[in-house]
Amino acid sequence: MTATSNTPHYAPNYTPTATAAWKTLQQYAQQATGQNITDFFTDNPQRSSQMSLQCGEIFLDYSKNLVSDQTWQTLLELAAQSPLERHRAAMFSGEKINTTEDRAVLHAALRAEIGDQSVASAAEESDQRVRLVKQQLNSVELVSEKIRSGQWLGSTGKAITDVVNIGIGGSDLGPKLACSALQEYAHPGITLHFISNVDGAEILTTLQKLNPETTLVALASKTFTTQETLLNAKTARNWFADTLGLENAQSSSHFVGLTANRENALAYGIPDDQILEFAEWVGGRYSLWSSIGLSIAISIGYQNFVEMLAGAREMDLHFQQAPAAENMPVILALLGIWYSNFLGAQSTAVIPYCERLLLLPSYLQQLDMESNGKSTTVDGKPVDYQTGAILWGQTGTNGQHAFFQLLHQGTRMVPIDFVAAAVDNLSNEEHHRVLLGNMLAQASALMSGQEAPEGEPYRHYPGNKPSNVLMLKKLTAKNFGALIALYEHKVFVQGSIWNINSFDQWGVELGKKMANQLLASDSADQTELDPSTTALFAHIKACQE
Ligand code: F6P
Repeated sequence: MTATSNTPHYAPNYTPTATAAWKTLQQYAQQATGQNITDFFTDNPQRSSQMSLQCGEIFLDYSKNLVSDQTWQTLLELAAQSPLERHRAAMFSGEKINTTEDRAVLHAALRAEIGDQSVASAAEESDQRVRLVKQQLNSVELVSEKIRSGQWLGSTGKAITDVVNIGIGGSDLGPKLACSALQEYAHPGITLHFISNVDGAEILTTLQKLNPETTLVALASKTFTTQETLLNAKTARNWFADTLGLENAQSSSHFVGLTANRENALAYGIPDDQILEFAEWVGGRYSLWSSIGLSIAISIGYQNFVEMLAGAREMDLHFQQAPAAENMPVILALLGIWYSNFLGAQSTAVIPYCERLLLLPSYLQQLDMESNGKSTTVDGKPVDYQTGAILWGQTGTNGQHAFFQLLHQGTRMVPIDFVAAAVDNLSNEEHHRVLLGNMLAQASALMSGQEAPEGEPYRHYPGNKPSNVLMLKKLTAKNFGALIALYEHKVFVQGSIWNINSFDQWGVELGKKMANQLLASDSADQTELDPSTTALFAHIKACQE
């Protein structure tokens, strides 16, 4: 392949399938069908220590993978033969690597410190950026502290007891996950609520339970144009009007705006000093580290929020500095590529053994699938290999009593990431021992399998099912931040190797446009819909009459 004028400088003449490593991996994949993970341990007694590593307080054991030493070395070669290194430097130095939107990708700057930038040519610019971020985070600190300390008053002079974050996608999932994960640190007198779906039943039933005098709406939207968010905000405004007689609640102390589009927020009526801004180079699904994370800071306190940023920064530095063979995001990314591109896995599961991480799979669905669900390369060519995997999951032990049957005895290969915390202050010794014991048993059983007793083939466990274990020392704000940054960078590495733009989301536009067209017309006849949709439209109307 030759570089076109559209080819970014970090990926000249690159197509993953043309690399020597890709071709070798295709051969190894054929051999892998006859290989058994347990044999790898017999052949190499050092495997478990060789295929594990620590980063801060996160320990990764990736030894239970269907990956021979030889395959592993070739996967590392694939990373070396890809534009990963140049691409990573381009991202951290602020180049506009999101080419289809002509934007830099700098969520890492939200957790950076002055002097972090290792690319000397970009150091000064980077330091300026860090200063801007610190200013913006200063507002997060001021507002969150005022709310937490009871100094932020509603229109009738009462302190805030409930914060309703209205946002969707990245303006919802990250804050919602963080508040749930870090509930150990939650403010005892302030309850967080998250409204995302345009389903009116969600917001109406939530508002019904709240006292408008002590409720604050955090209107979170990078663009301040998102249909669902604006409709939910309108319903909240009507609620303030109906209950408190407060017209234009958006301009009162009951609303703050979290956005990269100050102009739109101002036009909406949010007072200037109640708009907490972040930069347009922060992608929506990477925005929990910005003012979009206000609800996190309100819940766990600004100091813990800063700890979360510090954990993410630790992972950023690790990602930038560690050699590929010892680089956690690179390792997870390569394993994912091995299963999806070479062994035909159609999906990947994330199973946290921690109920507070229940929302982790949903969060990762946006992070991973919105980022890497692409079929066009960065130079505009169609890909002829698989890209983003289908990610799904649920907490253990609940999942064990639901879909683990398929994982153990089904026909499909589903590589798994198990995630847990070794110490849990909110649990007790007995519960935690049982919880972690279950996780270890599942990972081991999936790998080892078991022969069926004579005449009972249905009791055969084939084993050889791969998994990683990500063990946090504790679910602290810092470790949580590092865990999320780990997955962000894993997605980045995969995007680099697949040669796609992980930072746009054009795929969601068509559906939005068609919904707007459809809603603009009250009758199916006036729209240019396909026959099936026209019939459904008519059926709904008939049901509603
Ligand atoms: O679904 C598309 C998307 O643009 C996401 O990337 C984003 O997180 C979400 O919509 C919400 O966008 P906004 O924060 O601008 O309301």
